[in-house]
Amino acid sequence: MLNVENFQVQSIGECKIVSPLNLPENLYVSNDARIRYATEIPNETGGADELSFEKAGPRRKIFFDPAETKAAVVTCGGISPGLNDVIRSIVMQLYYKYGVRHILGIRFGYKGLNPANWLEPMKLEPNGVERIHELGGTILGSSRGHEDPAVMVNTLEKLGINILFSIGGDGTLRGAHVIAEEIKKRGLHIAVIGIPKTIDNDIGYVSKTFGFDTAVEEASNAMQCAHVEAKGAQNGIGLVKVMGRDSGFIAAHATLSNLDVNYTLIPEVQFDLYGKSGFLDVLEQRIRKRHHAVIVAAEGAGQEFFTQSAGKDDSGNVLHNDIGLLLKDEISKHFQQKNIPITLKYIDPSYMIRSVQANAGDSIFCSHLGRYAVHAAMAGKTDMIVGLWHDEFTHVPIQVTTSYRKKISPDSALWLSVLESTGQPVSMKSEQAT
Ligand code: F6P
Repeated sequence: MLNVENFQVQSIGECKIVSPLNLPENLYVSNDARIRYATEIPNETGGADELSFEKAGPRRKIFFDPAETKAAVVTCGGISPGLNDVIRSIVMQLYYKYGVRHILGIRFGYKGLNPANWLEPMKLEPNGVERIHELGGTILGSSRGHEDPAVMVNTLEKLGINILFSIGGDGTLRGAHVIAEEIKKRGLHIAVIGIPKTIDNDIGYVSKTFGFDTAVEEASNAMQCAHVEAKGAQNGIGLVKVMGRDSGFIAAHATLSNLDVNYTLIPEVQFDLYGKSGFLDVLEQRIRKRHHAVIVAAEGAGQEFFTQSAGKDDSGNVLHNDIGLLLKDEISKHFQQKNIPITLKYIDPSYMIRSVQANAGDSIFCSHLGRYAVHAAMAGKTDMIVGLWHDEFTHVPIQVTTSYRKKISPDSALWLSVLESTGQPVSMKSEQAT
């Protein structure tokens, strides 16, 4: 159970240097400023929730002397729209606002912090990054997998790094935490600041991760195509599989933005395939009546239908079997058995929704994240991420943010909206599944 103490962000030491930002006094954020965790007014049964986050923003006094500061940026895990926007924002903010001149880009994730991999860091300067927000992916390269924290901290020491910006999902952030622990153990003055990235939007205590908005937009385009295909044939069925390993946020939000989706299948809500009121039966009823349907499945949906495990990736994430292909086969078989001709079009835009350039919303978000990460780092904050909560930027200890994976609750207003938008039954569980 998390308590008030868990939400305290660590600092390397006292801030004694006057910030070079030269802002009007009211634009600086006090170290005591907090953002409430809960907004609901407690009823008579519950007390006020005292949990709150440290508010992000420029501090009047900072810890690191810009002239002496050397920063490094690393991007890890699967790519996401906006990675280059964040890198650009960090470099521009460090260079132009704080006057930090030494910035390195670590190549291919944490691998680049292990000299055994022979990946020389690259110098990051405004000239080299000014147009990178127009590109998908990350100019630094990325990778999955673990490296020995002792080796990585040796490298940081050898390079003379004072600040490490670690951009990635929960695996990356766990990696950043063990780096911060190793730094602490050695008594070094190196700040570690995480910037949460994942198109899945499943990071805890953060209302939105960057890349998610763009991924939703791209997924929604694929659903639009599926609808056109479905409407263009008699008994047309458009089936789209989108990413979402353990959380169905992309599927749910794209459904809500698209409005043509009839069935949204997510990992958090189990369904049956066969039997009365199971998914295939429900789909058949619709095809008989409406002669077309659009189905969206998140990659983690329906994993209980597979008997064999698909293994794990290099980050230790459980890989999933392909629910899209299974649904495609089972739907085809079902309608064949029933002698109902259908035209099924299967669209799998998986990597296409995350390799594109960030959309306008994500670009704005990423440039804020980069700037807030620099403010936090220069103030000597460490072992924390920059988050967003109630539309305010926050500092969240890494251990808090990685303590749980955000998922869609079947009892949430979000899932209710999906049910209302699609018109699918609340439950597609069958009592007589065969
Ligand atoms: O973590 C985000 C994500 O998009 C997941 O939804 C998906 O399972 C995973 O990345 C796939 O990444 P990769 O194939 O690069 O390991």
